[in-house]
Amino acid sequence: MLSQAVCNMSRKLAQLWNLGFQAKHSLPDLPYDYCALEPHINVPIMQLHHSKHHIAYVNNLNATKEKYKEALAKADIKTWVALQPTLKFIGGGHINQTIFWTNLSLNGGRELKGDLIPLLGIDAWKHAYFLQYKHVRPDYPKAVRNVINWETANERYMTCKK
Ligand SMILES: [Fe+2]
Repeated sequence: MLSQAVCNMSRKLAQLWNLGFQAKHSLPDLPYDYCALEPHINVPIMQLHHSKHHIAYVNNLNATKEKYKEALAKADIKTWVALQPTLKFIGGGHINQTIFWTNLSLNGGRELKGDLIPLLGIDAWKHAYFLQYKHVRPDYPKAVRNVINWETANERYMTCKK
């Protein structure tokens, strides 16, 4: 009785999930060229970060979503539950990475004005800086400050104030 209810519930969840879960994720284009943030973030880092690291998140997210959908369709609750942390981690990584690209700009670096509170994050994982800054990690946030997209931060702030 209980197992039948679980199966029915998982099939309904699978149907609902499929409604919003069909689309494959893709690597977003950058709003600037790989060389646009030089010298603060160099081309090898941008290439590695975007075309190797971020695409890995996208590919793993799509693969995990397929496994997740299959588990739901088979009412394989154990697998379904086991995949959830991975799905959250990879999905979160893809979203954070996508947002991070918009936090940078070749026109960045101006000083803050007014009551602007930046609503942005900086990717400070090793893959984001090590090729250029090596073990001198504190130099990375100093350099990134020169390419922060304050317009995007301001837009987010204004949206939050509404
Ligand atoms: Fe990253």
